[in-house]
Amino acid sequence: MNISSIQEQILKLKNEKDVCILAHSYQAHEIIEIADYTGDSYKLSVDASKAENKNILMCGVRFMAETCKILSPEKTVYLAQPVAGCSMADQMDKQLISQVKKMYPDYTVVAYINTTAELKTICDVCVTSSSAVKIVNNLDNKNILFIPDCNLGDYVAKQCPDKNIKLLNGGCPIHACVNVDDVKKAKELHPNALVLVHPECTPEVVAMADYVGSTSGIMNYAKESDAKEFIIGTEISIAEHLQYECPDKNFYGLTLKLICPNMKSTTLVDVYNCLNGNGGEEIKLDDQTITDARKCIDEMIRLG
Ligand code: 13P
Ligand code: SF4
Repeated sequence: MNISSIQEQILKLKNEKDVCILAHSYQAHEIIEIADYTGDSYKLSVDASKAENKNILMCGVRFMAETCKILSPEKTVYLAQPVAGCSMADQMDKQLISQVKKMYPDYTVVAYINTTAELKTICDVCVTSSSAVKIVNNLDNKNILFIPDCNLGDYVAKQCPDKNIKLLNGGCPIHACVNVDDVKKAKELHPNALVLVHPECTPEVVAMADYVGSTSGIMNYAKESDAKEFIIGTEISIAEHLQYECPDKNFYGLTLKLICPNMKSTTLVDVYNCLNGNGGEEIKLDDQTITDARKCIDEMIRLG
């Protein structure tokens, strides 16, 4: 079978089995092509909750499938590739943060959406990279414990100088390994390009950027900008997708270090196998976890 015949089979199976396919923007182009919805992690879970299909298939990482299940408990949610975790979400668990909370009893716990469903059950509010600044500013409490990403937390702290933000030592190992020399080299190669980076990059890299934002923020900025060349400082697939969408502009990956093995572990064949009942994993969360984690997400929707 070639790529287009697998894609045809997938579209046929998905209609027969009433499945809505979600693909995060970090997925490969051939998966984006067969998805019903694409975008950032939060947008996908909202799209899924509004879709009429009984079944959801997430091409992304585990916390994204869990967020879908929390927002649509009545639906059957599958993760296309069961090994696709998120190195950041896996860094902090409920046990660890319960201990840390005892040290900071007067702090509001703000959890990046890249956290497990279980950890969300003991946090006060979720944020995404696009909503973090607004939500932290809208919180009544001055004292914030921001988990798990210290780079995103540092970025938020700089935008919210009135808040007292405590950070822990977590983050995305992929974005965190971009360094100042990588940015200098990319700018030397493409002197007319604007540098767009995700706030999961280090503060030194963020300081060199022309624009800082979420995956959707970067894509929208590049599409709407009058500029013609862009250095993309987030997972390498974003530069590729933008190149397909904007053929009159040029997009360069900041560095080849920006390849997320978790996101890239899902293949078109995994999607096919999952629809066929020969792969994937159904996401199962108990009712209490769904109820408690949902409070954290509802608070994000209220404050965002
Ligand atoms: P978004 O929430 O912007 O989709 O980002 C998810 C992610 O994993 C970034 O590395
Ligand atoms: Fe997780 Fe980083 Fe991969 Fe995003 S890029 S899914 S934060 S490991």
